[in-house]
Amino acid sequence: MRISHSTQTGEEKFEHEIPQFGLGVFLMSQEGECKSSVLAALEAGYTHIDTARAYNNEHEVGEAIKESGMDRDSLFITTKLRRMHATGYEEVIEHCKKSLELLDTDYIDLYLVHAPPEDPEHRAPVWKGMEYCLEQGWVKSIGVSNYGPAHLEAMRDYASYMPSVNQVEFNPWLQRPHLFKATEDAGAKVMAYSPLARGHKVDDPELVAIAEKLGCTPAQVAIKFCYDSGCITIPKSSRPERIVENLASLEVDISSEMEAIKALECDYISGWDPTTEP
Ligand SMILES: NC(=O)c1ccc[n+]([C@@H]2O[C@H](COP(=O)([O-])OP(=O)(O)OC[C@H]3O[C@@H](n4cnc5c(N)ncnc54)[C@H](OP(=O)(O)O)[C@@H]3O)[C@@H](O)[C@H]2O)c1
Repeated sequence: MRISHSTQTGEEKFEHEIPQFGLGVFLMSQEGECKSSVLAALEAGYTHIDTARAYNNEHEVGEAIKESGMDRDSLFITTKLRRMHATGYEEVIEHCKKSLELLDTDYIDLYLVHAPPEDPEHRAPVWKGMEYCLEQGWVKSIGVSNYGPAHLEAMRDYASYMPSVNQVEFNPWLQRPHLFKATEDAGAKVMAYSPLARGHKVDDPELVAIAEKLGCTPAQVAIKFCYDSGCITIPKSSRPERIVENLASLEVDISSEMEAIKALECDYISGWDPTTEP
């Protein structure tokens, strides 16, 4: 999938190709868990890893990539500026350099502001810092996460480059049409986090019934729904067999059950939701 950054004059800048599917590595807290999961994913054919400073495992992602022997250019790394670090221009530069060091890489493919900086006064200088990192080539593309329609709209006043991506919770139980449209209107792609609602909904009887009709697993239905909705989709698993199962979602045809999957919508937030903060 192609991502880019819209300018005030309607141009598209810093275009970059992003794999529409990847591995999320949140909540891999045991030492070595992230590294072994990333190695299993690369072995299975994943080419995109979504980490964050807040997950405290960027170094393990870097180690796994080195150990895999894979060409850096064949892989896509997303990481995020931690919310507590999103306080100003200089802080962004400092923490971007730190992430490059932890990941042991010359560049980050996609660097996201993890959530709208808590102090609204910090949002413009933080974004200017992100744009500086982009212009330096330290990062190939920049974006936001957990930005609501109002946060995106406000960016029009201070962004030279609008975000290429807005990473938000999205899954069959939380389809967010308003936020989806606002993200697209900003020129960004939706990146679906928690496609399995953090695992809370994998045993949902209605989902299980749909999966039985389709002849696939419940997790595959939810993941493919996000993917077919046009989202960059990043399910997390630390188990090699599920890592393979989740990638195999891409082969599943869910079109005959699309209406039934859409009907699972229930406005369920599995984690946090800063999109509605002032
Ligand atoms: N920007 C943000 O604020 C934000 C917030 C949340 C997440 N994220 C990103 O999005 C990624 C994915 O979201 P998430 O980790 O919250 O949740 P998720 O991917 O929706 O669900 C992960 C949970 O589902 C289980 N699971 C995975 N595959 C399964 C399968 N095939 N069958 C049954 N259970 C399965 C996992 O357990 P096992 O590991 O034991 O398999 C884990 O408990 C994160 O890792 C992170 O990279 C970003």
